[in-house]
Formats: sequence, structure tokens, C-alpha cells
Amino acid sequence: MTEPTQAAMQPFTVDIDTATGAMPGARNRLVRRASDLKGYYADGAALERLITEGDDPLHYEVFEVPVPEEAGQLMYCISKLQAGRVGDECFMTKGHYHTVESTAEIYICLQGEGYMLMKTRDGQSSCERMAKGRMVYVPPFWAHRSANTSATEPLVSFCVYPGDAGHNYGDIQTQGFPVRVFDRDGRISVEEC
Ligand code: F6R
Ligand code: ZN
Repeated sequence: MTEPTQAAMQPFTVDIDTATGAMPGARNRLVRRASDLKGYYADGAALERLITEGDDPLHYEVFEVPVPEEAGQLMYCISKLQAGRVGDECFMTKGHYHTVESTAEIYICLQGEGYMLMKTRDGQSSCERMAKGRMVYVPPFWAHRSANTSATEPLVSFCVYPGDAGHNYGDIQTQGFPVRVFDRDGRISVEEC
């Protein structure tokens, strides 16, 4: 009889409140504040004001119950992006390619609304609307960043991606994405940069 090759890891369960994304058993909590987003927004002076006069507010958190970062595993997390504006620009994540660029990702939006901005190295660009109950499929080779368009609610997503994917923030800070998401006096506007 053939022995299983990976018997060391046992099955497990995790409780997730699908209305809010709360995952009480999370063991990792990554926190990004406004000061971690220097260089990412169109209006750098507005970001500085937010940091110095606005008490460096929480931007987003990523909650995980980690699994080994290996091929064959499925990494998963809750991404929670706060509502807010930097000047007129909607709060957003840094955005990244996966280090192993041939790996995809699924985002299921549990709460809030926004956009997933995506781009490829050969110049393609896409912008998909995120809303509660909607899934965004980020194909292999597409860098991805989410932006929260709500004025009040966090944008909460459940994300799943291959265990060996890794994150490459490398050129995003300098290159950005082809579009930015603004709130122009209460009207959400996706604008080419
Ligand atoms: C994982 C993934 C998300 C993001 C999270 C924070 O591959 O895409 O969990 O990591 O939304 O965004 P970044 O990593 O761009 O700061
Ligand atoms: Zn990703």
C-alpha cells in the first residue's frame, strides 16, 4: 500500500464571520498605517498632513492563520481596508505582484465596496468593481491593489492564493497603477494617471 507523503499536517477548521470578516483565531495581524503608504498616493502633502495632524490613522490590516509557504498549500487571509481619503484619493492597499508571478488569487468581498486595480508588466490594465458577495479573480501575472470607495464602511475580503506565491512590492511604489480612484465631492471617479 502507498503511504501518504505529507501526513504531518492535520486538517483544521477556522471560524470566520462572513458578514464582517472577523476571524477570532487569527494568529498573524499585519498592520499598515498612513505612514507606511508614503510615496503611493498622488497627493503626498495630504498624506503628510494625515500622518502628522491626523494621528497616522490605520489604513489596513491583514489577518491570517498561517500555513506553510509551500507549493501545494493554499494561503488565505482576511484583508480589511479602512474607509478614508488622502486628499481626494480613496484609501488603498500598496498593491503587489506575486513573487511567483504565475500564481493567481481569489478575493471574495464580504463587506463594503471598492475597486480592484490590476495591471500586467506588458501594459494591460483592468479595474473590477468589488462589492459584498462578489468574487474577483486575479489571474497569474497581474499585479493587484484594492481601493475602498465607501465613505464609512471598511472593504473586507477573504483572499486565497497558492502557498508559494510570495509578495513583490518592488516596482509598485515607483510605477503605481495606470488608474487611481478618487472621491470628487462625493462622486467616485476612476481616473487615468
Ligand atoms: C495576498 C493579497 C492580499 C493583500 C492585502 C494587503 O496575496 O493580495 O491579502 O496582501 O490586501 O495588500 P498589500 O499586500 O498590497 O499591501
Ligand atoms: Zn496578492
